[in-house]
Amino acid sequence: MALLRLLVLLFALLISVLHSLPWSIDISESQGPGTILPPFSFNCSSYMPTLELLSVRPPTSFFNNPSLHRLDKGIYVGKVTLSSSARLDALAVNRYELQLQYKCGNFVLAGPLSVHVQQDPDRIRCAGPFASPAGEFIYVPETVTPGALLYTLLLPGPGVQRAQMNITSAQDPPYFPGPFSIDEQGLLRAPSQGLKGQAPKTFQLQILVSLGKGQSCKGMLTVKVLPAPSSQVSFRQKAQSITIPEDLVPGSKVIQVEARGFNLLYEIFSPWPSPFYSIGQADGIVRTTVPLDLARAQGAGVTKLQVRAFEKLRPWASAEFDLTVNVRAVNQWPPRCLPALLVTQIPETAPVGTVLSTLTCVDPDSASAPLNYQLQLHNPPDSASLRLRDRVLEVNTTLDCDTPGACSQQAASILVSDDGQPQMTTEVPVLVMVTPVNEFSPACVPRTFRVREDAGPHTLLGSIVGTDMDYPHNSFEYYISGGPSTFAVDRLSGELHLQGPLDYEQQRLYRVTILLIDHSQDCDLNHHRSGSCTITIEVEVSSTMTPLIVTDVEAFWKPEPWFVAVLTATGAVLLLALGWLLSRILRGFAQSLQTPNKPARALLLSNIQGNEGSIERLMEAPRMEMSQQHSDGRAHDVQSATSLRAPYGTGGYFSLKK
Ligand SMILES: *[C@@H]1O[C@H](CO)[C@@H](O)[C@H](O)[C@H]1NC(C)=O
Ligand SMILES: *[C@@H]1O[C@H](CO)[C@@H](O)[C@H](O)[C@H]1NC(C)=O
Ligand SMILES: *[C@@H]1O[C@H](CO)[C@@H](O)[C@H](O)[C@H]1NC(C)=O
Repeated sequence: MALLRLLVLLFALLISVLHSLPWSIDISESQGPGTILPPFSFNCSSYMPTLELLSVRPPTSFFNNPSLHRLDKGIYVGKVTLSSSARLDALAVNRYELQLQYKCGNFVLAGPLSVHVQQDPDRIRCAGPFASPAGEFIYVPETVTPGALLYTLLLPGPGVQRAQMNITSAQDPPYFPGPFSIDEQGLLRAPSQGLKGQAPKTFQLQILVSLGKGQSCKGMLTVKVLPAPSSQVSFRQKAQSITIPEDLVPGSKVIQVEARGFNLLYEIFSPWPSPFYSIGQADGIVRTTVPLDLARAQGAGVTKLQVRAFEKLRPWASAEFDLTVNVRAVNQWPPRCLPALLVTQIPETAPVGTVLSTLTCVDPDSASAPLNYQLQLHNPPDSASLRLRDRVLEVNTTLDCDTPGACSQQAASILVSDDGQPQMTTEVPVLVMVTPVNEFSPACVPRTFRVREDAGPHTLLGSIVGTDMDYPHNSFEYYISGGPSTFAVDRLSGELHLQGPLDYEQQRLYRVTILLIDHSQDCDLNHHRSGSCTITIEVEVSSTMTPLIVTDVEAFWKPEPWFVAVLTATGAVLLLALGWLLSRILRGFAQSLQTPNKPARALLLSNIQGNEGSIERLMEAPRMEMSQQHSDGRAHDVQSATSLRAPYGTGGYFSLKK
């Protein structure tokens, strides 16, 4: 049986060769619907023949069923035409195989017809999956932004700049939320209503690309809407930057991060461990863990934190978030200064430019920040006595203590401020004590006093007026330096008094050196200065002379002769007594010469009238050792007392010269 079938097939093949059924034909892809493929003829004399298209490979609807026309007696012409849907594209399919079957009575002829599609070089073509029968698929989440760009359709051909693009398929509601749109650049956009709630719909868009001159191509785009990933974890944004002040106390909230998802936990996974920040595992609140003092906490200025949110039960379902925390410097501390309080003293003679102190200040907020120094003088007001050069406090003007009230303490303050926000200022109180210096020696002017020779002891001769330019101006004492014991000066008042008797005949002129020694004008109490002047004392002659009185008495006295005799005897005895007395005195004098420092009683020598000769004054005045007084203040009072007593103690001696 099988052998018989094979023979029948060979026979049929032979028959088909004999008939004029074509084996293959060429057709240009530019041929459109209605195009007739080259016809072929059949002989069939006694029957009504039929011609059928059994199948096409690859399957297509491009070909209509063939038609068969009787041309002459027993001769028929078969035709195949392109159907209305025919869109030949040599690049898509360049060969179709049509299975045709011819029947004439019992005679059946079947055979394949190869249709070769020839490429047309002038034709525009839509390329890629878009132009394929299945079209291009686009997957879009339903959360896509309304009007967002979904797809860019390539223009047909490299030289084409723009083409008319039209979605030719219907986009009618309610299936469509609104129309998709495509512009002449080929940009396909989502409906302006968005695609929310459209999942999992599919929208098929037929697109016609026209270039004018009747040239066009078309293709299909299929948009599939995906549901929002409800079980997925995500952050609303991928990264965020935040700035916080450095003075936040540890534990302060920085920010709360929030991810979408179900049953989430949060963690900082970089840096790990995180030196400055922590995150609440459940609430996602980022907090500071240490003081962020920028001067101390190294590297706290900018921290890049990577935060992860993950599902508690499915930790692999997670999302990440980059958080940048910038720490802004806050001026927290005023400058710190050394010394914090400046108390000092300087002598009034300190020259301009003398350095009192150098201030050293630092800003704890920023060690290198520049600081401003400003001097404010409080007391005395409008004083220019101090100045600040950079950080150095100096004497600015000549200081003076020698006018009342001039020598005061200088109260000021140095304001040290930083440049931060808000500005912080430190006040360094300054107290400068100006101490007095004994600069000037006391002085007195030379004067002349006149005194009657008969003036009694303690007679006031006059006052010596001393001056001292140091303050207090009257702080000195008067002493007599050298000179006779006849005079004494009051230590405090400067009044010069007569101490002993005067005799015009013996000495008319005395010169007394007055010494002035100051005190209490220097902060060093042992620092004294002295000055002196010479006082001249002139004696006058007294008007009542004793010898004249004696002469007057003799002129009127007339004694009796016995009285003269008694008087002569008495006078002789008196002379003898006087001579004895004189010898005793001379012996005492000799003794007192051997012990000159021993206080001796002053001799009162009677002035014997009528005796020739003169009284010559021998004076030995004590020398006042002023240098001793200068060097030893405690000895001062004792010394001055001694010097006052001295004219009496060592005495002045008078001798008679013949
Ligand atoms: C078909 O007919 C034509 C003329 O009518 C003839 O020439 C030809 O030989 C015939 N062919 C067959 C196979 O009968
Ligand atoms: C095709 O789109 C263009 C705009 O690109 C428009 O002007 C034209 O009217 C549209 N044609 C059709 C048939 O929709
Ligand atoms: C310093 O003294 C000068 C005058 O000698 C004065 O002009 C200046 O203002 C003073 N400086 C201060 C800081 O008082």
